[in-house]
Amino acid sequence: MTAEPLVLGIETSCDETGVGIVRGHTLLADAVASSVEQHARFGGVVPEVASRAHLEAMVPTVRRALDTAGVKLADVDAIAVTAGPGLAGALLVGVAAAKAYALAAGKPLYGVNHLAAHVAVDSLEHGPLPEPAVALLVSGGHSSLLRVDSLAHGVTPLGATIDDAAGEAFDKVARLLGLPFPGGLPIDNAAREGQITIEFPRGLTGPRDQAEHRFDFSFSGLKTAVARWVEARERSGEPVPMHDVAASFQEAVCDVLTRKAIDACASQGIETLVIGGGVAANSRLRAMAVERASAKGIAVRVPRPKLCTDNGAMVAALGSHLVAAGVEEGRLDLPADSAMPITAVVAAHG
Ligand code: KG4
Ligand code: ZN
Repeated sequence: MTAEPLVLGIETSCDETGVGIVRGHTLLADAVASSVEQHARFGGVVPEVASRAHLEAMVPTVRRALDTAGVKLADVDAIAVTAGPGLAGALLVGVAAAKAYALAAGKPLYGVNHLAAHVAVDSLEHGPLPEPAVALLVSGGHSSLLRVDSLAHGVTPLGATIDDAAGEAFDKVARLLGLPFPGGLPIDNAAREGQITIEFPRGLTGPRDQAEHRFDFSFSGLKTAVARWVEARERSGEPVPMHDVAASFQEAVCDVLTRKAIDACASQGIETLVIGGGVAANSRLRAMAVERASAKGIAVRVPRPKLCTDNGAMVAALGSHLVAAGVEEGRLDLPADSAMPITAVVAAHG
């Protein structure tokens, strides 16, 4: 095996069919086909629709990635695929395809954790992640703080959301403001034209939360507070200042996320914070994290927005890291695990 493994990564945990190709820490191709438009009118991802779209997009997206990278399937050193967590049917399409490619081409197969891949992708932009690091993982389905001693061999959860994920809160608040799905980017854009005029609640940040929920998150109360505020405005007959609501809501989310992430670094004596997942694309979160962390001597690593949302490059990046670290390849009966725990970087054997 070369020191710089050439890895093809397949991602199908939600509504993006992603195929990425990396050599070591160098990104060669990042092909994504999204079924997001087919879900928009439902206000959320419809699993069956996503699975069918993955099935249709898989082969063309693999071809596109190979063409862009200028390599052949026979050239790759390994194939990595998201084994979980995610939508069961959607994961199955990617895992089945990866097994077929691995078997047909005689390549080692790695079934990897989607959340660990959101952390690993940063290495494509900023080089190897210094370990230990603290990772803030914020996506549509997850919000967690992790201690990363070794991305190849395991991570330790420090805290997680006790109700909604951060991305879910963006999507729900966008919906009640009449913005399209998924709501993260529309809120980000609307907030740029608004002022932070409303003090929305910061979940689990009170003195009593320190003991039990110091590194946990809660966004459900915030979402309800925004809904009540908007309803009260509508009842009074006054116009809803949509941009100000978006800015104030976004500020509340980013305040809590950055405060807890920096507290986690401080408590662990760790000087590197890596942020991953779709919500890491948020412009206010990025700016606030850098500002607050640098005041404490903590370095923030956050990949460019396109690498934050789901893609195949992140899976390839983690695969390449695992190959370089000498992690044993998976078996052809490795399962798709919709509830794969964050502590498992690679899928257990079937
Ligand atoms: O990681 P991701 O692409 O898929 C999951 O694994 O869930 O994350 C999707 C989430 C959605 O909830 C979306 O609204 C949110 O990431 N998101 C954003 C932004 N871009 C995407 N949230 C806030 N600001 C953004 N710019
Ligand atoms: Zn994701």
